[in-house]
Amino acid sequence: MTATTFDIKSIIRPNILALKPYRCARDDYSTGVLLDANENAYGPALNPSSEAAVSSSGLDINRYPDPHQHDLKNLIAKFRNIQGGPENFFLGVGSDEVIDMLFRVFCVPGKDAVLITPPTYGMYSVSAQINDVQVHKANLTLDGQFQLNVEEIERQVAAHPNIKIIFLCSPGNPTGSALSHDSMKRVLTMPNYKGIVAVDEAYVDFIDAGKEGSTATWVKDYPNLVVMQTMSKSFGLAGVRLGIAITSPETAFYMNATKAPYNIASTTSRVAQEALQPKGLEILHNHIAIMVQERERLLEAFKSISGLGRVLGTNDSNFVLVEILDKEGKPSNDRALKIYTDMASRQGLVVRFRGTEIGCEGCLRITVGTPEENDVVIRRLTEQLSS
Ligand SMILES: Cc1ncc(COP(=O)(O)O)c(C=O)c1O
Repeated sequence: MTATTFDIKSIIRPNILALKPYRCARDDYSTGVLLDANENAYGPALNPSSEAAVSSSGLDINRYPDPHQHDLKNLIAKFRNIQGGPENFFLGVGSDEVIDMLFRVFCVPGKDAVLITPPTYGMYSVSAQINDVQVHKANLTLDGQFQLNVEEIERQVAAHPNIKIIFLCSPGNPTGSALSHDSMKRVLTMPNYKGIVAVDEAYVDFIDAGKEGSTATWVKDYPNLVVMQTMSKSFGLAGVRLGIAITSPETAFYMNATKAPYNIASTTSRVAQEALQPKGLEILHNHIAIMVQERERLLEAFKSISGLGRVLGTNDSNFVLVEILDKEGKPSNDRALKIYTDMASRQGLVVRFRGTEIGCEGCLRITVGTPEENDVVIRRLTEQLSS
């Protein structure tokens, strides 16, 4: 899809197209004696020496936050090498808000549909149901690699012209597989598809250097692309809730027009901006290197635990997806579920049972933890599988 063939106005919900966005008190004047937004000029009701007051000092948290977040968007644009700037961004309360926003902007409830590629992240379907939008599926290849079946995607799109969003997850959850760039380009350029392609890159920073990485810089070439990222994973900031959409200025415009005016808290913005400073980025890269190294150590250790089967996917993430085998050597949901429950309820080790996802029979998804936590994983799995 090129800028000349993509017509965003034809796929935006008519009510959003007609929307006159809310104008914030600060859109016109933002300095002076501010008695325009019914804020509390006396300051926050916090003990001044409390941790909460100290850590938010200088943020004027009695005031509404910046609705546009240009400084934060500029920092992300620089970090991700995005040509352009704030106009290419929508920021949300986690990528979960970004996902929901795509539904709200593009899908007419009770009429439109989306396409997902199972096994995949559960929130696409949950958001679809919340927004009363149908879900169609084109499974990933179930050969353990979990790549796109582009022909099936084409078939689904041809059969369901009401599909407005195709969700691709790269690296995938729970698969851990980065999708090939070539296959994603094929989806982005399908001649008969008029909708949006949303590439969820929550785990993109864990892809090894030298492999195909982020698609974020493609937004200048593909007007139908929305790349979703988050500060919850590699940045270690799940608690601040910052999700990111990188897209064309037109798509970003409608997403921003639809959001609640002050969705990004001052505290969230401050922490995120700090993480994007040189020291934060140095820590980020150190943490990623250790997590990748620990992931490889777990994978190596798994080879000598009898009762573990294949490690599925291509391990481009901060978790691994591994099969639990029964005594006959077959992947077993019963045994995986028993081990999962036993470890969580008796041994205080919580992983995720993913055996009911298509192509993941008998699988546990295990997040890479600290070296000590990973030692516990190795020890517990060895014990569990020897009994
Ligand atoms: C693929 C994927 N996308 C998005 C999210 C949600 O991220 P956030 O914390 O930014 O809402 C997750 C969280 O697990 C995820 O696995």
